[in-house]
Amino acid sequence: MRHILDGRQFTRDWLEGTLFPNTAELQLTHPGQLPQTLAGKRLFYLFYEPSTRTRVSFEMAAIMLGATVHGIDSQEEQVRAERLEDRVQVLNAYPFDFLLVRYHQEGGAARAAAVSNVPVINAGDGVGQHPTQALLDVYTLWRELGRIDGLRIALVGDLSYQRSTNSLAYVLALFSRLKLYLVSPQLLGMRDEVRDYLAHSGAQIEHVRDLRAIAHDVDVVYLTRAHSERLQHAQRFEDETGSYALDADVLRSLPPDARVLHPLPRGPELPAAMDNDPRIACFRQAANGLYVRMALLSLLAAERDSSLSRVTER
Ligand code: CP
Repeated sequence: MRHILDGRQFTRDWLEGTLFPNTAELQLTHPGQLPQTLAGKRLFYLFYEPSTRTRVSFEMAAIMLGATVHGIDSQEEQVRAERLEDRVQVLNAYPFDFLLVRYHQEGGAARAAAVSNVPVINAGDGVGQHPTQALLDVYTLWRELGRIDGLRIALVGDLSYQRSTNSLAYVLALFSRLKLYLVSPQLLGMRDEVRDYLAHSGAQIEHVRDLRAIAHDVDVVYLTRAHSERLQHAQRFEDETGSYALDADVLRSLPPDARVLHPLPRGPELPAAMDNDPRIACFRQAANGLYVRMALLSLLAAERDSSLSRVTER
């Protein structure tokens, strides 16, 4: 847990025994009575891509638990101006306690972690991973449905270039008896290594080209942005029946206790006109992110303090 980089680094025991209960407790606590577990800590964010949810929820999580927050919203062109590794080493010297990094290329957070002497949190690295999004996604399933084992989940859209679904698949692999419908154009199917990891965990996997065909048989629809150039391009190569959006037919077919999740921001795949349907959980999901990130920062800080005090004792 020194850094948060990859959906494969978590264990089921840690999720169910530590992260979920800590998050739920924070969520029940009055904001004015939150424990100041991050008092005196400093979070720095370094973002090479825009963000609303990840950046602001981490920022608020840190502030509400007593930390101070500083950061840079960088532009991709600044990559040429200074190496990521140099920036991280400079930031280590100032000194901050956590670095939250969103990078536009896969592997950016791992590069930062390789030279950082404080925890680096991957806030999304290009088409690689978004591990804290996956944590809030599975927490939302646990909170909304009371279980994750045995769920039938449709992952929908461009699954080749989606860091959220990559990390979510890795975290879901910790659970049992899952049925995963991978609903994407053939050209944008889930990466082999991610799909194989899921399959190796025992999950049952089925490839589907039309969400309407399986909507009646799912507990969860996890939508991703459908208006990317890639998805439109891929759809031109398949028959007209492929569908990767929530429409009236899908909504009618969904079981009454199903849930629709979306990491946001959304596109036309999740029409705002359907937001009143209580099965659509994307805003509750985004709200959960604040508390999941509070719990995560507290746990990282406690672990770091205890390892530093062990070093001092020696
Ligand atoms: N879900 C997500 O990562 O949103 P942001 O891009 O706003 O952080």
